[in-house]
Amino acid sequence: MARPRQTIESLEETPNYHCCLCVVRKAFLCGVDDVTDENVEHRREWVDSRIAKLATIFAMDIYACARLLIRKSVTPLLFSTVIYNLLGCGSPNAIAKTTDNPVVLLDSYYSDLYEWNEQGGLEQTQLGRGLNLGNYLEAPVEGKWSGGRVLIEDDLQRIADAGFKTVRIPVRWSAHADLTFPYAINATFMARIKEVVGWANNAHLKVILNVHHYTKMMHDPESQQAGHILRLRGIWQQMSEQFPLSEYAHDHLIFELLNEPNSSIDYNDWNNIIAQLLTVIWGDMAAQQNDGTTQRTVMIGSANWSQPDDLAKLRLPSSVNTRNTIITIHYYKPFHFTHQGAKWVNGADDWIGTRWLGTKSDQAPLIAMFDRVTRWNAQANRGFEIFIGEFGVYSRSVDPDQQKAWTAFIAREAEKRNMSWAYWEYASGFGAYDANKGQWRPKLIEALIPVQ
Ligand code: BGC
Repeated sequence: MARPRQTIESLEETPNYHCCLCVVRKAFLCGVDDVTDENVEHRREWVDSRIAKLATIFAMDIYACARLLIRKSVTPLLFSTVIYNLLGCGSPNAIAKTTDNPVVLLDSYYSDLYEWNEQGGLEQTQLGRGLNLGNYLEAPVEGKWSGGRVLIEDDLQRIADAGFKTVRIPVRWSAHADLTFPYAINATFMARIKEVVGWANNAHLKVILNVHHYTKMMHDPESQQAGHILRLRGIWQQMSEQFPLSEYAHDHLIFELLNEPNSSIDYNDWNNIIAQLLTVIWGDMAAQQNDGTTQRTVMIGSANWSQPDDLAKLRLPSSVNTRNTIITIHYYKPFHFTHQGAKWVNGADDWIGTRWLGTKSDQAPLIAMFDRVTRWNAQANRGFEIFIGEFGVYSRSVDPDQQKAWTAFIAREAEKRNMSWAYWEYASGFGAYDANKGQWRPKLIEALIPVQ
């Protein structure tokens, strides 16, 4: 039969055990304290969040730490300090830091590793390191997703000064184009996009312009797809006219056909759409014209959200070659890590605390992905520049050291393989730049642009 604890444990022999129990009990208390009658119900939310945090730490770590301290007969004060720090409410000390920050990724990932690759690595790519100007021009209205903030010229210069070579500008053209032929794009909106592209040019940044968040095209029934394709062709027709090769060099402004085709656009639909859009952008003579200097460079990803493994389903027209096309992939895996706490993803709050520490087993699936992409690209008639057009970790709930580690790992592993990239994104929920403080987030910028 179970016996009350006080009859099993000896206060004289293990005094610190009792102290520990009291400290932990007090630390987690969030109802009425039956000793003092004080009601501390208001602490419940905070306590819940600290318990969630503790769940991210191996129970063994806490247990081992407690055992060690008890064996060494540390004072109750020291022991309570340790517990206090494990809960994240004390000033950082060595124990709290190693327990809170168990990232094991090698420091070399935060250094510049061009020379990992004897062919020259990142320097060989056209696009190098880039940033997505996400949540601005693909929001329903600029400012709506960025707390009223809109892009200014300083943003582009700041990005260039930090060492980035490219910006990807997601644009929701579908919210600014007529629904009927010739699908005229609102002139004020077009002028705004030209203004931002001009600022990027002034800052000597390369630009990728895309069609982002054409969500109706993805979600309307199959029967409406033909209409959406005509509209998308109309949008690209106008973009080609508004951004002529004579004013925007073919390899300084890149057209990305459609962001993350998905849902009702299946693999076959997408292959067919690619062929149609290329004749719009490159003209009817697309197949003959593929010398890579008189054609706008285009960027193409796969259907099913541009996931790397779906490259296998991509069927590229014969007019596509390494001089006129860059292939893009998007990568956010493990999704429960990168999107933990993401407000727009169902169930993402349940993933809070998912860890990526850079252990061998954390790294393995990511390296396997890179290797599969490299194998795809090594096949006949390929050898494209591969651009990781989106990768990133949502900042709200993630441990910043783990966010830094994952980000640096993807960036450096890409660079080793001559892949260029653009982090998602500049100054919003994943943001490398903190617009409120007016400064780069130190850990993210160190992960993205290592100190030489
Ligand atoms: C979407 C963004 C989203 C990001 C990460 C992008 O493709 O456009 O809205 O924040 O992916 O999920």
